[in-house]
Amino acid sequence: MASYNIFLLPGDGIGPEVTAEVEKVAHVISGAGLAKFEFEKGLVGGSAYDAHGQAISEADMARAQAADAVLLAAVGGPKWADVPYEVRPEAGLLRLRKDLGLFANLRPALCYRALAEASSLKRELVEGLDIMIVRELTGGVYFGEPKEITNLPNGQKRAVDTQVYETYEIERIAAVAFEMARKRGNKVTSSEKNNVMKSGVLWKEVVTDVHKKSYPDVQLEHMLADALGMQLVRYPKQFDVIVTDNLFGDLLSDVASMLTGSLGMLPSASLGAADASGKRKAMYEPVHGSAPDIAGKGIANPIAMIGSFGMALRYSFGLIEAADLIEKAISDVLAAGLRTADIKGDATSSVSTSAMGDAIANALKKAL
Ligand code: NAI
Ligand code: MG
Repeated sequence: MASYNIFLLPGDGIGPEVTAEVEKVAHVISGAGLAKFEFEKGLVGGSAYDAHGQAISEADMARAQAADAVLLAAVGGPKWADVPYEVRPEAGLLRLRKDLGLFANLRPALCYRALAEASSLKRELVEGLDIMIVRELTGGVYFGEPKEITNLPNGQKRAVDTQVYETYEIERIAAVAFEMARKRGNKVTSSEKNNVMKSGVLWKEVVTDVHKKSYPDVQLEHMLADALGMQLVRYPKQFDVIVTDNLFGDLLSDVASMLTGSLGMLPSASLGAADASGKRKAMYEPVHGSAPDIAGKGIANPIAMIGSFGMALRYSFGLIEAADLIEKAISDVLAAGLRTADIKGDATSSVSTSAMGDAIANALKKAL
């Protein structure tokens, strides 16, 4: 049986509460003989700062580098509002992303049937929705130079941001998207604005080349980013994998996330470059933060965190069937009416974090 080393970073706030539920689900999968998981625990964020004055220690960085995957809950909270900038909780997160070279941010928008009411769109438009946005995370206009505000002789100011992409950056994000698509609906929509941006012209050219050379079996379409924004709210189910740059990806993934309802439901993954054996550095984390307002109350929704573990199974460990079954288990408990407080809607009662985790683990056990 394959064995995977997962570096678990519960972080702050509700982090420890939601990561405890992941361990239950992992236990069920190893119990069924599919794979073994070794969880090694570390400190990140405010809790790390409290322990040793850093947002993440060198020893924990080394463990993150060595692990098969990193699973992180969330960092931050009002308690650390005044700690020095270099050691603030978010610095731990940024260090992990940077040192692990995580250039591909994967944000699924998955709409569970039972929660279709929570969407901002009509039920029939979002029920069963399952799209994946692959956002380039380490290049583009957020990092391009020059980036400055200068004073003009006429007393006005001039602000510049620069969108820069090189061939290799587009090639590697395109490859991630095509690989993703092969494990899903086999379709990629690549998005830029080649009608007004040179970086868009290169983007389209390189994605087309990568497709022709290495992924001709995957369906590829190109769509201008503004049109894609429109199509996302008009008929989102037309999409499978969307690949786009840092800026457009930031906007479009936030739009897509609201199609599905609550923050407590949304997982994400960030992937690095593949090594010679095809293995990638990867970090999986829910989209939500540390939710200090409900921390310690045992009422946080563990689904985004469990879903993030599901993504690790799918994209780092190749356990596609187990990943599918986790999604099905979540879908089943929601269909049975189980709700945590954040997704309660019109339901008459809600359950605790650990009751939701137990229910998902039990549903998974039955399915395996
Ligand atoms: P947040 O995501 O922590 O909370 C926003 C709202 O959603 C709160 O009302 C919270 O109770 C609710 N919520 C979030 N996750 C939930 C869950 N799993 N179950 C039930 N309800 C949930 O964002 P906020 O309040 O803006 O930030 C709180 C702290 O988290 C800040 O220190 C912020 O910097 C940090 N943060 C960290 C992130 C990370 O580690 N990746 C991402 C976003 C914020
Ligand atoms: Mg954003």
